[in-house]
Amino acid sequence: PIDPVRYIANRSSGKQGHAIAAAAARAGAAVTLISGPVNLPDPPGVTVVHVVTARAMLQSVERALPVDVAIFAAAVADWRVAGAAEQKIKKKAGQSTPELSLVENPDILATIAKRKIQRPKLVIGFAAETENVAANAEAKLAAKGCDWILANDVSPATGIMGGDRNTIQLVTAQDIEPWPPQSKEDVAAMLIARIAAELVP
Ligand code: CTP
Repeated sequence: PIDPVRYIANRSSGKQGHAIAAAAARAGAAVTLISGPVNLPDPPGVTVVHVVTARAMLQSVERALPVDVAIFAAAVADWRVAGAAEQKIKKKAGQSTPELSLVENPDILATIAKRKIQRPKLVIGFAAETENVAANAEAKLAAKGCDWILANDVSPATGIMGGDRNTIQLVTAQDIEPWPPQSKEDVAAMLIARIAAELVP
């Protein structure tokens, strides 16, 4: 894939994913963080791979296997422009606006969760929702084939997107566990503790 001049993206600060990578490293895990474009420093003690496209992110995730646990916090764009131009598309006076046709990007979480070989023991996703948060997250858990989903309400009024705090509902096949509102660092620490308890009961 080429790294284009203009592109379609989802808004994301990357703070939650970076906090999780840092917390896992602090807990003693060997961590690879595959990050899209963010304005954050690489967390200490973590191997960081920087990517720009969804396809490059999937490739880097596959290269990082095998792993015990895979956590998918990236706000991957669901679609990209079909047949991206090789050169910058210039704006010319009197020209009509360009029509964009889109193709679907790979679903990285679902691809890894549905693997027959080298599937991580725990595959954990996020669900960014703006309504019916728990119900949509339960449906996502089933559709993607992952083990846990951290659901959050990204409606503008919550301030979660781009903010420093997060309110999570942890959705598993068994139940839905509401977590208290807390910093993204505390969400990360709570998640890593849960994972450790799951792997070494
Ligand atoms: N995800 C992914 N690859 C994609 C899209 C999403 O790996 N192409 C992952 C996200 O990292 C997250 C989970 O899937 O862990 C859910 O992402 P979310 O944006 O909430 O949902 P979508 O799958 O995009 O579904 P929808 O847009 O219908 O809500």
